Amino acid sequence: MKINRLWLADFRCYQEVDVTFDAGLTAVIGANGQGKTNLVEAVAYLATLSSFRGAPGEALVRSGTPRAIVRAEAEREGRQLLLEAELVANGRNRTQLNRQPLRRARDLLGALRVSVFSPDDLVLVKGSPGERRNLLDDVLVSLHPRHDQQRSDLDRILRQRGALLKQAGGRLNAELETTLDVFDAKLAEAGEALAAARGRLVEAMAPVLSDSYGRLARTPSPVSAVYEPTWMQGGLAAALAAARRDDLRRGVSTVGPHRDDLELTLNGLPARTHASQGEQRSLALALRLAAHEVVRARTESTPVLILDDVFSELDPDRSDALLRSLPPGQTILTTAGVLPAGTEPGLILKVAGAQVTRG
Ligand SMILES: Nc1ncnc2c1ncn2[C@@H]1O[C@H](COP(=O)(O)OP(=O)(O)OP(=O)(O)O)[C@@H](O)[C@H]1O
Ligand SMILES: [Mg+2]
Repeated sequence: MKINRLWLADFRCYQEVDVTFDAGLTAVIGANGQGKTNLVEAVAYLATLSSFRGAPGEALVRSGTPRAIVRAEAEREGRQLLLEAELVANGRNRTQLNRQPLRRARDLLGALRVSVFSPDDLVLVKGSPGERRNLLDDVLVSLHPRHDQQRSDLDRILRQRGALLKQAGGRLNAELETTLDVFDAKLAEAGEALAAARGRLVEAMAPVLSDSYGRLARTPSPVSAVYEPTWMQGGLAAALAAARRDDLRRGVSTVGPHRDDLELTLNGLPARTHASQGEQRSLALALRLAAHEVVRARTESTPVLILDDVFSELDPDRSDALLRSLPPGQTILTTAGVLPAGTEPGLILKVAGAQVTRG
């Protein structure tokens, strides 16, 4: 998978820009606030139809203008793709693939694939369990779109069960009990399926994670990633039955895959509470690289790797190690500083004042 060319009109700070990318490494360089992240955000937008910074659609449209256009020429196993998205500040977005308007905007999803690492990814290590669950679920969706359905089914069951628990107000009559039994059976089935998929994914990612982290740290530093919900052994149905009184009292579902965590340790200590800031950042990066590698190995195409501001908080040795061990395929990285000595990107793009020039 690779992106050859990108056109933007009224996207973020860009009035109009036309950029080509190298098939290997492209380095996007410039001072703070010049438009580096906006550029890679546009690439990722075509892949996910959302901002990796979590910004709402209207923030992506240049202020004072009604719509933005993001268009790219990409290549997938030798096939040329022309992707286009039109973002309307207060209206419906439209997408096109190979000049054919798509019936639903989301039909563009999957045509271009990206793996993104951004400074916000620190929360993968430092943040709440929900951040790590989302990472796993996002990777599952990119491996098999059916997981998207699985995820929304589960959300729906949890919402309905939650409404029922609240409605019960701590007391259970025969009718509510029967309804709750039905929801518990559905939750047990959907929840176990999702947890099993997450478990298998973590098993596949763990060795790659260790490897990626080891290469960054350049010293043996044991890393472990474990997804083992406490309810796993006895099964979710039994755990739900055991938690029912508590759930009724609190009016929420206290056990299930929506509460589980992916536990990360570094040198035998919980990374969330014990690792240093630079270690946490390296581990977050290693998690993204592991996910990238698993997707590459399981699907026939390598996603485009986007590394936004990747050198901030990495020491010079780690920055250097990262550049030396980039995975095969296309990488676009941004930096506000200087590139580590010895880096030879295929292309340098200089960004200043929302203008991009070849450096
Ligand atoms: N919708 C918008 N309309 C106009 N300008 C915008 C819009 N959204 C963001 N900007 C501007 O784009 C500029 C560049 O932002 P960007 O995040 O790309 O900077 P950067 O080069 O990545 O900087 P840093 O090194 O600090 O990360 C910002 O100054 C911001 O104000
Ligand atoms: Mg930036």
